[in-house]
Amino acid sequence: MPASDPRTIYLADYQPFSHLLEQVELRFRLDPQATRVTTRLHLAPNPERPGKQDVRLDGEDLKLISCSVNGEILKVVPDATGLTIAAARLPSGAFVLETEVEIAPAENTALEGLYMSNGMYCTQCEAEGFRKITFYPDRPDVMTRFKVRIEGDLPVLLSNGNPVGQGEAWAEWEDPWPKPSYLFALVAGDLRAFPDRFTTMSGREVDLNIWVRPGDEGRCAWGMQSLKAAMRWDEEVYGREYDLDIFNIVAVDDFNMGAMENKGLNIFNSKAVLASADTATDDDFARVEAIIAHEYFHNWTGNRITCRDWFQLCLKEGLTVYRDQQFSSDLRSAPVKRIQDVLALRARQFREDGGPLAHPVRPDHYIEINNFYTATVYEKGAEVIGMLRRLVGDADYARALDLYFERHDGHAATIEDWLKVFEDVTGRDLAQFKLWYTQAGTPRLKVIEDWDKGRYTLTLEQENPPTPGQPEKDAKLIPVAVGLLSPNGDEVLPTQVLELSEAKHSYVFDGLGARPIASILRDFSAPVIVEREVSVAERAFLLAHDKDAFNRFEAGRSLCKDVLARMIVDGAEPLPELLEAMEALAFDESLEPAFRALALRLPGEDDMAATLFAAGHVPDPAAIHAARDALHLALAQKLRPRLSVLESAMHVPGAYAPDADSAGKRALRLVALGLLARLDGGAAARAAFFDAHNMTESFGAMQILLEIGQGATKLERFEEQWRDDRLVMDKWFAVQVTSAKPEEVAGVVRRLTEHPAFDLKNPNRFRAVFGALTANHAGFHEADGAGYDLLADWLIKLDRLNPQTAARMSTGFESWPRYDIDRQEMMRAALERILATEGLSRDLGEMAARMLARA
Ligand code: BES
Ligand code: ZN
Repeated sequence: MPASDPRTIYLADYQPFSHLLEQVELRFRLDPQATRVTTRLHLAPNPERPGKQDVRLDGEDLKLISCSVNGEILKVVPDATGLTIAAARLPSGAFVLETEVEIAPAENTALEGLYMSNGMYCTQCEAEGFRKITFYPDRPDVMTRFKVRIEGDLPVLLSNGNPVGQGEAWAEWEDPWPKPSYLFALVAGDLRAFPDRFTTMSGREVDLNIWVRPGDEGRCAWGMQSLKAAMRWDEEVYGREYDLDIFNIVAVDDFNMGAMENKGLNIFNSKAVLASADTATDDDFARVEAIIAHEYFHNWTGNRITCRDWFQLCLKEGLTVYRDQQFSSDLRSAPVKRIQDVLALRARQFREDGGPLAHPVRPDHYIEINNFYTATVYEKGAEVIGMLRRLVGDADYARALDLYFERHDGHAATIEDWLKVFEDVTGRDLAQFKLWYTQAGTPRLKVIEDWDKGRYTLTLEQENPPTPGQPEKDAKLIPVAVGLLSPNGDEVLPTQVLELSEAKHSYVFDGLGARPIASILRDFSAPVIVEREVSVAERAFLLAHDKDAFNRFEAGRSLCKDVLARMIVDGAEPLPELLEAMEALAFDESLEPAFRALALRLPGEDDMAATLFAAGHVPDPAAIHAARDALHLALAQKLRPRLSVLESAMHVPGAYAPDADSAGKRALRLVALGLLARLDGGAAARAAFFDAHNMTESFGAMQILLEIGQGATKLERFEEQWRDDRLVMDKWFAVQVTSAKPEEVAGVVRRLTEHPAFDLKNPNRFRAVFGALTANHAGFHEADGAGYDLLADWLIKLDRLNPQTAARMSTGFESWPRYDIDRQEMMRAALERILATEGLSRDLGEMAARMLARA
């Protein structure tokens, strides 16, 4: 694929659609092999596009049965990507264009468009799946009202909006709110409802349902509770009320993503909605709560106000992630949520931003839009909103959002529109701030400190590294939240936001009695990498005294990374000061258990590889693995006398409850058990396994045992117990790979792909095995290259069935330039082999080409 691929789409080429679509009527006659879809488009000329225009409709893999204009049959021949009806064949003024097509949902393994999962029909239309259902202007700026009739011999027939009629084997739905095609949904199957009701702030009653396969009703209560909490929160915090009489959620087992916000009919990967004490862990419960909220929040940020084109994806995704993070933060612990979000940002987004796949939060070109649902668009997109809020303040943020909803409701908007509401509310010029949307790469923030006779000078310098297609960059506007502590631990300067807008700037603080200790980038106020010489003593001081919870965590984290880096590179011993600081933290009862659990977890191996690479080293995966192991052991030995006490103090008795406090205790208990296992041969973890009353405890204990090379019999018992449960079996598959010794990983993966329950067609199962392969850093990067070959082999196999998931999983290779020449060569060869595959999808082709810097 050459750099100038003819399939590339550019932001600069945007043009509105030739026609206005006033309404659409759809009729589905369902059949696994031959579903008929009849579509009536009510079209009129678009005054924004003068002159008589052709009608160009998108359409892929559709068998055209008939086409007519105002009832008169037209002979037309579609091409590979759609259908054109020449202007000359159209009447002037408004007209009705009707098509009938045939599709085969049972043959659809890509899980895009209309497909089948366990005998049930369902759809996935974002971003461009609707064109696999019917001929249509499949673009988000064409918004219209949908009327849908479903005919099929199945008990439950669902679509968007409100139900308006039903009878023997048919149902009709009408959505009063204009929407783009990507929000269309249809579900048909033998489903059971978990029902509830919600009264909105203005007193309207809404019927709520979670639809599941018979037998799964017992796993819906948490999802329903989360939905109601999200509905209430959006009313209270953003003043946003739900706008239909009914809200349906459906759980499906075969789904490429986590969940989808179709208007009034959200479709969820069953993994992202079903949860019960015996089948889901605390982390699963927290994720379900967040995803339900995320999709619900899209009803305003995404659906009522949508994107003009797919380059504006962060307009809905970045904002909705920001909102779901705020929601979780309000419902749970704000500091713990912030730490988790920053850890995830660094692990996924910094990794992306520092490699060949780096792209701006708002990209300006793409080949396959599905490849741009990335950590950059989502998580960095959310960080950019957090920065904006910090810059304008809470009150103006609220005013800007009110204006956004008022001004753009019912329309398709852009990032320019979004920034304009902030400019109009505050009078600020946000041109420089906009660079966060248009320039890729993680800025480096260099911190230089000086103390001279009562005067403290803080110099901040920013550096914006080159990224693919963007060699030169301008200085960004970076909000740096700073606080100063005196040597006795008092705060002499409470948090202040410095706005760094130049490449370099010095800030002077006068009248201080003693040299202060600076707490910089509090609450992680900008997505940057801080470079700062800090002594061990200063870090330990901040870890003990900082008033900012995030920076307390960060002080420990950076100390830990420094120590680990020295252990890896120079074979140094674990630093006693670090072990002492971690001990103090582990038993500090003024800190919440979830915070302590996070602070005691060592940085991951991929994180260490990235850190070493940034510091100019070539990371050696085996050395990283060994050093991390050694630090774990040293920490266990240091804490030894009090670990058992901690373990039992964190035992949560009684019936399982998924609340944040109980979950935090269970997390800290598992950390203690993991350290104990390095000293007692797994005795305590074994006892915990047999005593477990929920999945968090039993799975956590089994994982610990597997990590010390034990637990084989537990694994058998686990399989025996859960062999018929797809979601739990995904855990069983994944844990064997993540806990395997590096040299055994490839063998374990091969064995698992031969297991009768391995299923290439189920994305969750594929991700369980191959996501775990790339998550086992030392195992994936074993020197013989077996991990690379395996991933390439299976991506090529999967691509024939499901290009979207194959492309997403290919990011396992994105960090290839970090490693030594031998590993680089092997990873490049794997990517070349993928790229040379005959019939390769556009999805995986674009990813491989970008990673090889050929697109
Ligand atoms: N709109 C997306 C789902 C989607 C993504 C559809 C890509 C088609 C292509 C949805 O709102 C979403 O963002 N889902 C996330 C979970 C969320 C909590 C970030 C997902 O599916 O991972
Ligand atoms: Zn989303």
